[in-house]
Amino acid sequence: MTFTNLKIEQKKQIATILINRPKKLNVLDSSTIQELHGAFKMLNNDEEVRVIIIRGKGDKAFVAGADINEFVDYDIEEGTEMAREAHKMLFDFVEKLSTPVIAAINGYALGGGLELALACHLRVASKQAKMGLPEVSLGLIPGYGGTQRLPKLIGKAKALEMILTAQMIDAERAYDLGLVNHVVSHESLMEFCINLANSIAINSSEAIARAITSVNASDAPLVNGYGVEIENFGLCFETEDFIEGIEAFLEKRNPDFQ
Ligand code: COA
Repeated sequence: MTFTNLKIEQKKQIATILINRPKKLNVLDSSTIQELHGAFKMLNNDEEVRVIIIRGKGDKAFVAGADINEFVDYDIEEGTEMAREAHKMLFDFVEKLSTPVIAAINGYALGGGLELALACHLRVASKQAKMGLPEVSLGLIPGYGGTQRLPKLIGKAKALEMILTAQMIDAERAYDLGLVNHVVSHESLMEFCINLANSIAINSSEAIARAITSVNASDAPLVNGYGVEIENFGLCFETEDFIEGIEAFLEKRNPDFQ
């Protein structure tokens, strides 16, 4: 698969997706969303890949939002369809991937950019990152999951403050709110993310996939999350990873998961 707006790098079990439109602050136009769908799908199907990191090219932006130029003339139907399609292709798709995804927030993460980071499983911000949902300043609301994922992560009141003021927050504030897992120096962002990815990659990928499914069920409407957990817990017992994990523990050695 060839990509125009992305670069994919793979070192052993860690793949990095670089959104490569720095002059446009890596904004998400529809072709970039299509490419991201293809890249995530490809890497998720690659058994060698244990963790995916996503970042924006350059020092300025992770992703500065959806590409405003694309929807200036949209009507209600087109706006609705744009959001529905993006949820399916990218935001819900990433959240439900069985391979964990780390957002390396290297600069502006605004609108759809922050919503992309919110759909990822973990978020690490550079000290120079700025995050916000500025949509109401454009006469819009967040349409790529921001009104749903942000309150779940930081609470309704703080999420409403960010959404209603449309203001950006810096990385330290985002950390205090629980929006990002870590804040690190700009220079060490990728090294930190790779180390974090490696500490995930040594574990059972089958168990990790089931853990993601179960955690996602914790806030899915009309889903009994405890039931999903019980089912996935049980399904672990006949996996090769479980046999290896238990054997390694009893033999006092590190497990070697396939
Ligand atoms: N959609 C389309 N183009 C965008 C964009 C977006 N969301 N965000 C930035 N760009 C483009 C700019 O138009 C500019 O293009 P140009 O060089 O052809 O004029 C280029 O990216 C660089 O952005 P610029 O505004 O010149 O950089 P800046 O450092 O002055 O400001 C931001 C950076 C992020 C504060 C500013 O670009 C901004 O507010 N962007 C919009 C953010 C937003 O509202 N996102 C949510 C969209 S729903």
